[in-house]
Amino acid sequence: MSIRLFCADLDGTLVGNPESSRRFRIAWEGLEEGRGPLLCYNTGRLVDDAMSLIGHEGLPVPDYVIGGIGTQIHAPRLERPVPELGRSWASGWDLERIEQVLLGFPGVIRQPPRHLHPYKSSWYLHRATDETVADLRQQLARAGLAVTVVYSSMRDLDVLPLDTDKGKALQRLCEHLDIPLHAVLVAGDSGNDISMFLLPGVRGSVVENAQPELHGAVVGRPTFTA
Ligand code: GLC
Ligand code: MG
Repeated sequence: MSIRLFCADLDGTLVGNPESSRRFRIAWEGLEEGRGPLLCYNTGRLVDDAMSLIGHEGLPVPDYVIGGIGTQIHAPRLERPVPELGRSWASGWDLERIEQVLLGFPGVIRQPPRHLHPYKSSWYLHRATDETVADLRQQLARAGLAVTVVYSSMRDLDVLPLDTDKGKALQRLCEHLDIPLHAVLVAGDSGNDISMFLLPGVRGSVVENAQPELHGAVVGRPTFTA
């Protein structure tokens, strides 16, 4: 079965080791024009931030960028968001109340404004255990908030609308493009990538420097370790 879409994380996956980024670009550009897979970057960065990173690192311009952990889907070659993929955000999202809960939670520090938007509430929480993250999820639920909480790299804590993560956004993109998930290859290095690897049928590539949380989550899945 050939791969029709390659969906890769940026930081820690395609970016971080300039020599590896360079080899990826050369390999990608060596694929026959129009016959290779589509390219999608799926990142925690917002789309504008991701586009400047791509330029700075000399990575190939992708067909799609999923930004802000599944909250944005853009088609850079068309220089616009993909309107068909816009969605109305789940009820249960109340940024002010989310912030109140987070600000009362010990050890939490707000991320700088360039990482935030009205549907992505991101924080730092260093070395949190599974129990601590579960406790935070409970506090949010008790406040009547129906949200998704993603914890990565023993540091990054993202609070997102319900049913929102990298995997859900990739799934919607594949439905839109009519690409079956078994024709998709994903790549990543940390906790916010897990949802891509768990989509039924996808094949995955875990980079050697991946965080233990990703290695643990893909045990028993069709996964290659680079
Ligand atoms: C990126 C984003 C940050 C997020 C992290 C993990 O670094 O900029 O806001 O918390 O990814 O998802
Ligand atoms: Mg990463």
